[in-house]
Amino acid sequence: MSTRKRCLISREDIARRVQELAREISRDYAGRDLVLVGVLKGAFIFLADLVRALTFPVEIDFVRLRSYGGGTCPTGEVNITKDVELSLKDRDVLIVEDIMDIGFTLSFLRQHLATHRPRSLKICVLIDKKERREVEVPLDYVGFVVEKGFLVGYGLDCGEKGRTYPEIYEIETE
Ligand code: IMP
Ligand code: MG
Repeated sequence: MSTRKRCLISREDIARRVQELAREISRDYAGRDLVLVGVLKGAFIFLADLVRALTFPVEIDFVRLRSYGGGTCPTGEVNITKDVELSLKDRDVLIVEDIMDIGFTLSFLRQHLATHRPRSLKICVLIDKKERREVEVPLDYVGFVVEKGFLVGYGLDCGEKGRTYPEIYEIETE
């Protein structure tokens, strides 16, 4: 079995879209007390580029989640291995995630962060991947919509490989 990769989103397209998302977020939240919660590890590059394009100061925190069954065969069970450390109570919170696939991860995280009683809670994903969706969660900011495929690069990995590519690739296994 051999694996090849095909470039799906160029670094120019990523950079342009991240700037657009940052403009929208800056417009929507200007003057508010916003905390961005990045989901480790996949969202770290997206979050780093996004925050540097915002036109107002924000605070940043991270969670790390583990989905049982792994990326290709998830069971729906999600656990937190690192929780937020900032107080979210009565603050505006924006989750920043790399990709939404089946939906278990964001559905779980949204419910979990809601227990911290934020003033508002929204979601920003770089990629909304539609084909395998089982749980719908409202997405407030979406970078790219993709129908299917397994993607790596710009933070996204396949068994820890491919995370550092500056572009996003679709893996083709044959
Ligand atoms: P789900 O929506 O519960 O399936 O979980 C989404 C999580 O699965 C993401 O945070 C990624 O960690 C992982 N994931 C899903 N699709 C991909 C992909 O195409 N490439 C890399 N990771 C993926
Ligand atoms: Mg992830």
